[in-house]
Amino acid sequence: MFTVGIAVKNVYARVESRIFRVRMEKIERVPTGIPGLDPLIEGGFPKDSLIIIAGPAGSGKTIFSCQFLYQGAVKYGEAGLYVSFTESRDSFFRNFVQLQFNLAKLEEEKKFRFINLSSVEEEGVTEILSTVMEEVRLNKVSRLVIDSFTALAQAFKESIDVRILIRILLDRIVHQMGCTTLLIVETPIGEQKIGTGVEEFLADGIITLESFVDQLEIKRRALIRKMRGTNQSLKYHNIVISKDGIRLTPMV
Ligand SMILES: Nc1ncnc2c1ncn2[C@@H]1O[C@H](COP(=O)(O)OP(=O)(O)O)[C@@H](O)[C@H]1O
Ligand SMILES: [Mg+2]
Repeated sequence: MFTVGIAVKNVYARVESRIFRVRMEKIERVPTGIPGLDPLIEGGFPKDSLIIIAGPAGSGKTIFSCQFLYQGAVKYGEAGLYVSFTESRDSFFRNFVQLQFNLAKLEEEKKFRFINLSSVEEEGVTEILSTVMEEVRLNKVSRLVIDSFTALAQAFKESIDVRILIRILLDRIVHQMGCTTLLIVETPIGEQKIGTGVEEFLADGIITLESFVDQLEIKRRALIRKMRGTNQSLKYHNIVISKDGIRLTPMV
């Protein structure tokens, strides 16, 4: 009787530790800050992952990514860094005032940083990446946006293998420094291919934002093409942009 009791207890202990392990191994999620998106990807992006946001001009990539940082800071107190290769801080901030995102206030609170790296074109890959890493370290950044990867890959004087560049970003910034990172990839209008075709295999997730003309008007829709470790939605969703930012709604 006594030994059976112990045996049962052991089994319970083993089952319990297994449940605990499974719970421990469950992927941690980073809420996206985009209304309508989290329920489609089990609650958010996998923590410390590299996600590609791809689409043509005007599809909403910049608003999507900035909102990810803005809501991350406002709702979850996480510091965000926006690295741009095209826009100046002033014009960027002005656009988001229109959208009722008070980036200046967040910047004062040290929860949001914007840096423009278009002037470092003359420098090499090492300088650009070490500038980003230094910013991430100093500001304890846990949400990062690179706008765009297309521009970053072209910024270097020496041509660089996209595969190596992504590996450096993944190893040093995403994993070692613990930064959930959005890489914006610009696709020409009507183009189906994402970037060079290499980055899509290395990224943990891909969301395409599509913009096309239908019956004399622009329509926008989003599709989650890939999200590692996630039981994701396979359906297209409408992209709605308003002064409150971007949100996804089901297509009827
Ligand atoms: N207040 C607003 N209300 C509705 N749509 C807006 C508003 N502000 C910007 N937009 C839309 O968002 C588009 C720009 O989105 P953006 O994220 O900059 O695109 P991308 O970075 O993909 O080029 C504009 O072309 C415009 O159609
Ligand atoms: Mg943009």
